[in-house]
Amino acid sequence: MAELSPFKRVKAAAVMGVGLGIDIFDSQPDFRVLIDKHRGGFDFLEVYSRGDWEHTDDLFAEIPDDVPRTYHHEGLDPVGPKLCPDGPIEGCAKNQRLLNPPWTVEELAVRHIDGKYTDFFFPAILNKQCVQATVANLKALEKRIPGPLLPENAPYEFAVGDMHLFDFMNEVAHGAECGLVLDLGHVWSYQLCVGKGDQPDDRIESLDLSRIIEVHLAGARIEEYEGGRIYRDLHGAGPIPEESMFLLRELLPKLPNLKAITIEVEDATEAAAVEQAQQVREVVRRLRPAWLEGVHVS
Ligand SMILES: [Fe+2]
Repeated sequence: MAELSPFKRVKAAAVMGVGLGIDIFDSQPDFRVLIDKHRGGFDFLEVYSRGDWEHTDDLFAEIPDDVPRTYHHEGLDPVGPKLCPDGPIEGCAKNQRLLNPPWTVEELAVRHIDGKYTDFFFPAILNKQCVQATVANLKALEKRIPGPLLPENAPYEFAVGDMHLFDFMNEVAHGAECGLVLDLGHVWSYQLCVGKGDQPDDRIESLDLSRIIEVHLAGARIEEYEGGRIYRDLHGAGPIPEESMFLLRELLPKLPNLKAITIEVEDATEAAAVEQAQQVREVVRRLRPAWLEGVHVS
């Protein structure tokens, strides 16, 4: 029997609900405190380890089996001109074995140049060559990493290339037969780059919304420059922009395969993290209550 495509695999996964994106190495929020004291405030954790796989065994083991989780990797650089080195691939497979998530998130960005980490998301160049390279990379990764990958639209501070972001995402998702994470703040960051900052949902109907498996929300700040505005992720250290919440309200009823909504809360206090989850859950309860009823309880 032919293997199921990554998209079919994530489409068949259970609904995870409203979760918190945490950094396993952060002391705030401390995932142990979230689990011990605020377990009712989130349905699952999205676990990020800064791309590390050498110091994760003991930390991952501290997450009880009954806390559902997804995994956010870093280092596969899937939009690069060629496949990343073996280390991050094997590291991703190792962390998947430890966590056993239904899928693994990876940004559509490059974070390494010639093996050196860049503290900047080089987002995908929006052209056909980059689509081809990304599809080839994702297909090669699929053969070596057991769990399905879910690419995420990265933050943009400038956009390069002659394609629209949504066309790029469609072509990658269809070419690699995968689902997608739609980070709503990152959507707005792109709109700011292309002069559509006042219409965060501009051209959203051109995106294949059936491919969106997971949505991300995060705190952010907007920096004003002479030439325009730039979106900067703050994760838990700031409020979720109204533009991201607007996109959530717009899209919630239109995502047939939505399985997870993650609020990325790195640097938030534990109380602030669950407060943001509550803010989002209220919107979901109002606009799509049946979805919450379908949340898988382990
Ligand atoms: Fe994100």
